[in-house]
Amino acid sequence: MAERYEYQYDIYKQRIEHALDKLMPPEEAVFEDEKVPALLSQAMRYSLLAGGKRIRPVLLLATVEMLGGSIEEAMPVAAALEMIHTYSLIHDDLPGMDDDDLRRGRPTNHKVYGVGQAILAGDGLLNAAYEAMLQNALLYPVHTSRHLKAIREIAVRAGVTGMIAGQCIDLMSEHMDPDFERLRYIDRHKTADLLTAPLLAGAALCGATASQIDALRTFGTNVGIAFQIDDDLLDIEGDAALLGKATGMDAKMGKMTWPAMAGIEGARAESKVLWEAAEKSLEIFGDKAWFHRGFAASLSRRKF
Ligand code: IPE
Ligand code: IPE
Ligand code: MG
Ligand code: MG
Ligand code: MG
Repeated sequence: MAERYEYQYDIYKQRIEHALDKLMPPEEAVFEDEKVPALLSQAMRYSLLAGGKRIRPVLLLATVEMLGGSIEEAMPVAAALEMIHTYSLIHDDLPGMDDDDLRRGRPTNHKVYGVGQAILAGDGLLNAAYEAMLQNALLYPVHTSRHLKAIREIAVRAGVTGMIAGQCIDLMSEHMDPDFERLRYIDRHKTADLLTAPLLAGAALCGATASQIDALRTFGTNVGIAFQIDDDLLDIEGDAALLGKATGMDAKMGKMTWPAMAGIEGARAESKVLWEAAEKSLEIFGDKAWFHRGFAASLSRRKF
């Protein structure tokens, strides 16, 4: 079971790497109209093609496959999600945000290209994501409304009531008194929204039923919050070399996190409850959710 899951994960991941590379402008592009400036494409490629687990696009492809849709039709949407996620990481690492020097095992984008160019590389990836999704939608005129719904799911969850809202409150809450309601809001939005997006975009692309959509939303929310709690735990007990990013940063920045508020044991217990709830929400899919089950089992034990 675990082997089948890992094998499938690698297949999805390889296809995503290929799609991302193809969607990015070439590095050697010159200073010319309708070409991307070389520095900008280098900076975008630097962070996007630096590895990363690719869990968001993988989840989208797996959801489309589970619901009987076309992987080929969904691939640019999957790639777009990874571009949006990577932009959020480039900006998250900036000196005005989490001020991090290491990401995906390399110096952060602004350390290499400078703050100004890093902001633009993030902006570039964000716009390239919507361009890729819209170009793709135009190729499938019989599915226009499904594509628009998928793009809307992503826009809402990446946007100012979603990931950006979570990041806003995350920053505002540094060094603040513990507040569980605020903490839940932060985790639900800064992280769970971008993990729910692939599930709901996949559902939209396949014309899923209301009960399937509900189940996927519950799965995504639980996975997303558990994933962030585990990220916060790894910031304390993880191995920086494996993680490809520095540890100990949350305490340094005074971040409001589960381990900071409930202790390591409290955070672990909360994460366990959420992973179990995630697994349970897959019941309506029966055996068809084998990949999603493997995903939850594997990520709940992750070391990076
Ligand atoms: C890191 O995301 C940011 C969080 C939401 C915790 P990932 O852990 O998915 O990072 P990559 O994409 O694998 O680098
Ligand atoms: C980031 O959460 C969530 C994003 C929207 C990027 P963190 O700030 O904890 O992510 P890391 O630890 O820097 O990867
Ligand atoms: Mg952050
Ligand atoms: Mg950060
Ligand atoms: Mg973190």
